[in-house]
Amino acid sequence: MSLEIRKINQNDRETFVELSLALTKFNRRQHDKHYADFEEFLRVRKRRVEERFDKIGQSPHTLIMMAFKNDQPAGYLRAFTYDKELRRGCLDEFFLKEETRGQGIGKTLLDAAIQWMKERKVIRMITSVYSWNAPARAFYEEEGFLEHSSSYEKII
Ligand SMILES: CC(C)(COP(=O)(O)OP(=O)(O)OC[C@H]1O[C@@H](n2cnc3c(N)ncnc32)[C@H](O)[C@@H]1OP(=O)(O)O)[C@@H](O)C(=O)NCCC(=O)NCCS
Repeated sequence: MSLEIRKINQNDRETFVELSLALTKFNRRQHDKHYADFEEFLRVRKRRVEERFDKIGQSPHTLIMMAFKNDQPAGYLRAFTYDKELRRGCLDEFFLKEETRGQGIGKTLLDAAIQWMKERKVIRMITSVYSWNAPARAFYEEEGFLEHSSSYEKII
C-alpha cells in the first residue's frame, strides 16, 4: 500500500467537500430521527464547508490534512490551535472512508497533526466523540486520550 499524507491545496476542493459531507452523514445517521430537515441541514453544511475551503491558507492556526491510499483520497482531519497562552489545540474533524479504516492511516494522520501542534508549542489537545462511536473512542484511548467530559443534547 502506498500512503501519502499532506496538507490540502487549492486543487482539493471537490475531495474536501466530499469527505466533509461524508463525515456529516456518518455522524448524523445515528440522529436521523431527530433530523426531519436533514436535507436542509446538509445544504447548510455544504455551504459552510465550501466557505471553509475558500479560506484555506488564510489562518496559520488551522491545519487540514488529507491521506491518499494508492493515490486515492482516503480521509482527512482538521485541527486548530486556539489559546496561545495556555497552548491548547483541538482536533475538530477526523474521517476515513470505511474501506480504509483499521489500516493505521488514522494513526499516521493523527501523528502528523500532533507533530504540527508540537511545532506550535501546544501541550494540551482536545477532541470530541459521540458516545455511540465506540470504534473512535477505542482509537482515541489507544492513542493516549483520556475521557474527561460528557455533553448532553435535548431536542426541543
Ligand atoms: C476513527 C478513525 C479516524 C480511526 O482511524 P483508523 O485508520 O481506522 O485507525 P487505525 O487503523 O490507525 O488504528 C489505530 C489503533 O486504534 C485502535 N482502533 C482503531 N479502530 C478500532 C476499532 N474499530 N475498534 C477498536 N480499536 C480500534 C487500534 O488499537 C488500532 O491499532 P491496531 O490496528 O494496531 O490494533 C477512523 O476509523 C474513522 O474515520 N472512523 C469513522 C469516522 C469517525 O469515527 N471519526 C472520528 C470521530 S469524529
